[in-house]
Amino acid sequence: MKILIMHGPNLGLLGTREPEVYGSQTLEDINQLLQTDSEALGLELETFQSDIEGELVAKIGEARGEVAGIVLNPAAYTHTSVAIRDAISASELPVVEVHLSNTHARESFRHQSLTAPVCVGQIMGFGVKSYQLGLKALVDHLEDVL
Ligand code: DQA
Repeated sequence: MKILIMHGPNLGLLGTREPEVYGSQTLEDINQLLQTDSEALGLELETFQSDIEGELVAKIGEARGEVAGIVLNPAAYTHTSVAIRDAISASELPVVEVHLSNTHARESFRHQSLTAPVCVGQIMGFGVKSYQLGLKALVDHLEDVL
């Protein structure tokens, strides 16, 4: 079973970007942790990061038929992107939304997610663990529905 991990804008800067909010691990560290988890779960993993909304939309579109599901951190596009929301719906893939920080404990413009309503569920506030829990939740969900 193949799973796609997607990271949105500015997440390539992790490690140096506001470490008090996002922690000190780099994107490479996170992908490596998820790779280790995937091997233990017997999964094939692909990772993808883009700062560009259209590239994220295109990647979700291409993922249909190629992967069993997606763990997605849409980053700032969470709060703005109808296009990513529509891409998730159109893909008919199970998507788990994850965030490093607890967006509800931050500025009010981060309280709304346009993407979460079309996802299977959302996990936030646990740092890198949000991704690990998201991957586990997606696999459990797939085992239930497949
Ligand atoms: C984030 C939260 C978003 O509000 C923010 O724009 C990000 C990262 C998180 O993982 O906590 O870039 O998605």
